[in-house]
This record gives sequence, structure tokens and C-alpha cells, in this order.
Amino acid sequence: KTTQWQRRSFQTAPPAGRIPDFAFAFDIDGVLLRSSTPIPSAHEALSYLQQQRIPFILLTNGGGKSEEERVADVAEKLKVPLDTSMFVQSHTPFAEMTDLHDKTILVAGGDGAKCASVARGYGFKNVVTPGDILVAHPEIWPFANVFREHYAPLASPLPKPIDPSNPANSLQIDAMFVYNDPRDWGLDATILMDLLLSSRGVLGTLSPKNNDRSLPNNGYLQDAQPHLYYSNPDLWWAASYHLPRLGQGGFREAFNGVWAAATQGASLDMTVMGKPYQPTYEFAERLLRKYRKTLFGSTGLNDPLRRVYMVGDNPESDIRGANGYKSPYGSEWRSCLVETGVYAGGEAPEGARPDVVSRDVGEAVKWALKDAG
Ligand code: G3P
Ligand code: MG
Repeated sequence: KTTQWQRRSFQTAPPAGRIPDFAFAFDIDGVLLRSSTPIPSAHEALSYLQQQRIPFILLTNGGGKSEEERVADVAEKLKVPLDTSMFVQSHTPFAEMTDLHDKTILVAGGDGAKCASVARGYGFKNVVTPGDILVAHPEIWPFANVFREHYAPLASPLPKPIDPSNPANSLQIDAMFVYNDPRDWGLDATILMDLLLSSRGVLGTLSPKNNDRSLPNNGYLQDAQPHLYYSNPDLWWAASYHLPRLGQGGFREAFNGVWAAATQGASLDMTVMGKPYQPTYEFAERLLRKYRKTLFGSTGLNDPLRRVYMVGDNPESDIRGANGYKSPYGSEWRSCLVETGVYAGGEAPEGARPDVVSRDVGEAVKWALKDAG
């Protein structure tokens, strides 16, 4: 049954049997969903592409759950069959950081222990959350009493206690990750600060170099401190409220203020992943090519993927990322900005101006199919 929508809009799908030389990457929040509410044209647009065997992946700065759990949730809400072979979340690329799998890492953000189980699912063997630390040492953040009932049932025992008198046997963190939007900014900021000011990531200690102005960066050196990784730069994102909400980038900017105040303006070395950054787009294209190959069983050599249409709602992540992405595989990415999320009209900043602005994902797909020719 072709709906009136499909009859009216898709005369330019590729002829049956030919492998299309283009594909799509869809952002989720603000494009396909507003929190748990589907955006009206999303189901039909994705269903049509699947019927026409035009490949697409979902590429989100969201996260906080395993890929299996989140993609099943999105599939159920959109009533479209989806699976992890076409799904990239903000923290999915962290799975490839195998050099840290045996280290002790802090995983902050998201709903309590969920992000810790996601990290363990990626192969990280020693995962600690700020909630685990708080439950073992409630005095570390005096204002957390109100959250105690929340943290207690979720907490895992620490691999080692905080014991500054015995640093060799005290909890030491080798790397810090923010996997998803922090819920308890106060606790997460406290733990990150403690670790960045510590001696070699040993919680409860202070580096003797701190505030030593004879040293670079006022002595706030991160030669031995655990490195800080963010999974998603979004300052704003489109949830169910009618105005954009602060995302993981909001926490990052707030934390930068605390760090600057505490260190008299020392610089803070960190790695921010997610859209709009090149590594995330490269990771996504690798997955898209692998997915396309399973779809068509072709090596892709004689069926090149020439163009990918990135459909997003946030100029700063989806559009800037697609515009700036340099594909090592020879594809050209075009950017389609929709008006159902963060973007609220007006001219987007330099570098974040899309190839097209569309009312919604359905209109964006129609435009792209015509553009693909
Ligand atoms: O945390 C989710 C938010 O940052 C945006 O996600 O799907 O619009 O990239 P998305
Ligand atoms: Mg979005």
C-alpha cells in the first residue's frame, strides 16, 4: 500500500535492483523524536527508504543506554525495524579504546549505573561511577544527602577505598569519561575536580605541583592526571519541552568555569567526541559502509557510495559536522537542516549553513532523493 504521501513525493527512487550510490545519516533527537514522541513524518520517511532499499544509519549525540537497548526503543517508537548495525550513539566509538580496557576508569553521566554497564559491555573491566564513590564516601559531597536513596541501590563496591594515608592502596583513576548528560552536576563536577587536582589520579590526594607558578599552566599539569573524555559537545538539544534544553555541553561549560576559578585560569586538556567532530563521522561512515555491504552483499568497489545526506536539527553538530567532514572513503556529505528541533530559523553561523532547510525529515528526504537524481 503506497500512502498518498509516497505517491505524491517519491518519483525519483532508484530503479529496482540497482545499488543506490547514496545513503542517509539521520540524527535522532529533534529529527525523528522529541524525547519519546515520534515526529510525524519520521515513520513514513524511514519506511519508504527501507522499501526502496536506500541505506541509512542513525547517528546521535545521545546515549546513556546500550546500543541494543536504545535502538530497540527507537524502533518501537517509530514502528520501523532498526538494529545496532545501523546505529551510532555518542559513546559508541569509545568501545574502540582497547588500550584503556584494563585500566580503571571513571564513567560519569546518564542514569546512575547504566553508563557503567554500557562501558563494561564495551570491554572496560574496571569501571567506577561518581555514585559508587559517593555511597562509599558520603562525606565527599556534603550536599548529596537528598540523593542518597537514588544512589544506594545502584552503587557497586569500589575496587579500592579512598585512603590518602596509603596512596598505594587508594583508589586510582586512569581516565575519566562523561558518557551521557550528567544528572547530578554537583557530584560529577566534584569528582572530576578531585581527580584533576590529584596526584596521578589517586583520589583524596593533591598534586604537589598545583599552583606552582614556576611551572607551565600554573603547575596544573596533566602529565600524570587522568585524561577527560566527553562523548557529546551539545550545548543544547531538542527534548519534549518546546525550547531547547542544556545538554552535555552545558555541563562541560559549567565545569570549565569551576576549573578556571579554582586554578586561576589554567588551561584544561580534554577530548570531546561526538558530532560535529571528524572521528565520529569517520566511525559513522565505516559503519554505514559495512551496513550497506550487508544490505547488498557487494564489496562496494564496483558500487561506490558517492553521497551521504546528513539530516539533523542542530546546526552546530549535525550541519557543521557534515559540512566539515573529509571522508577518507571518497564520499561527499550533504547537510539537511530540519525545523523540528534545536534550529529555530534565521541564518546559521558560518560553517554550519546547510545545503537545504526543510520543514521536517519527510521534506528533507524528498529533497535529497531529487538531489541524488
Ligand atoms: O543527549 C542527546 C542530545 O545531545 C542530542 O542528541 O540525537 O540530537 O544528536 P541528537
Ligand atoms: Mg538532534
